[in-house]
Amino acid sequence: MQEWQQDTPLIIERGKGATLIDTEGKKYLDGTSSIWVNLHGHRHPTLDRALKRQLDKIAHSTFLGLSNPPAIQLARELIRIAPKGLKRVFYSDNGSTAVEVALKMAVQYWQQRHPEAGPKNTFLHLKLAYHGDTIGAISVGNIELFHARFKPLLFPTLDAEPPYCYRCPLKLTYPSCRIACLDPIEQLLKTRHREIAGFVIEPLVQAAAGMIMSPPGYLKRIRDLCTKYDVLLIADEVATGFGRTGKMFACQHEGVTPDLIAISKGLTGGYMPLAATLTTEEIYNAFLGKYEEFKTFFHGHSYTGNPLGCAVALANLDIFRKEKTIAGLRPKIALLKRLLKPFADLPLVGDIRQRGMMVSLELVRNKTTREAIPLQARIGHRVTMEARRLGLLLRPLGSILVLMPPLSVTPQELQRMTGILHQAITRVHADL
Ligand SMILES: Cc1ncc(COP(=O)(O)O)c(C=O)c1O
Repeated sequence: MQEWQQDTPLIIERGKGATLIDTEGKKYLDGTSSIWVNLHGHRHPTLDRALKRQLDKIAHSTFLGLSNPPAIQLARELIRIAPKGLKRVFYSDNGSTAVEVALKMAVQYWQQRHPEAGPKNTFLHLKLAYHGDTIGAISVGNIELFHARFKPLLFPTLDAEPPYCYRCPLKLTYPSCRIACLDPIEQLLKTRHREIAGFVIEPLVQAAAGMIMSPPGYLKRIRDLCTKYDVLLIADEVATGFGRTGKMFACQHEGVTPDLIAISKGLTGGYMPLAATLTTEEIYNAFLGKYEEFKTFFHGHSYTGNPLGCAVALANLDIFRKEKTIAGLRPKIALLKRLLKPFADLPLVGDIRQRGMMVSLELVRNKTTREAIPLQARIGHRVTMEARRLGLLLRPLGSILVLMPPLSVTPQELQRMTGILHQAITRVHADL
């Protein structure tokens, strides 16, 4: 904050496609999709139109006891594209609350549906997880820098080592490890499943941890373990949802249907704050009962089911269909892979991770020993500032650089983005 006060802030005024324009008229490529929300580019005419049309009808009416047409249609569409078996939609307004809703639903589900199962009040999650900044989301998260201060406020949970193959906690190598990091997870589930309401996971990619990517088959085995030990699988697809990994949802790469899924960010293509928690008929039914049983899920936000958000989200999904966005990603993902290859020769780049359009470069002090660069060196920040001077906006995660362009990025823009990134890393290295 102190630096922010001293520096000249960058103020973004306009945007078009993958380009952002500041108040001085300088253009930048949006290398973060405006923090992982933008999909089809800024000022997409279909999204602009949908928002304006809805504005001509109504901006907001409460969802408490009422409904509205865009929210109803959107729920129908979400069920159509979601992993099979997810049939019910609960709206909220950001990724953190979508996760909170899932946690609360899971606990209440066990109380109402299977009271004999005993108090299932805790959650299992991975270390380095990030599920948002509200107290419940932090409780199932584990990023020391972000979360340590709030420990006195958090509820107790169980955690397990993540599948961080570059820094394997078991010092093994995939595939010969046979994903041995799942063994302690199974052990935990076996001994503690009676207390565990759900396993919360960012499927395939632990995004804020630095894009840690799980090996093939990992997610499916987590699903099987949850089923075996009667624990709900809660997939947080806030970052991975809506095409980022190359499929609409990350779970679909491994044919997995979670019991609850949290979505937000790309839901409106980066236009409006909106989120949803989707679940199964089985869980939904646990909340039905006579009035005096009070089985209601008492959770409602003022802007739940906001019509502007839902209208633009519907248009967002329409673009996926009309522009065949998912099919169009394949060549871009392949191009990105090719463009990332030369980074392997840079002395600072220890690991290159890519899943679809999600990319991270882990910068290290020593490529052979994989010695990490301490946060104090602010290496990610330095590269980011250099990239900014060259016309690319990024946001690092400590010493890990993240590139997550809008899905609509053109091949030329991808070339420019990776070109600038390469140049920025090279320059910072030369200065060290
Ligand atoms: C996986 C994941 N879950 C939840 C969140 C929180 O979303 P929001 O910032 O909209 O509350 C994020 C945000 O980065 C995220 O990456």
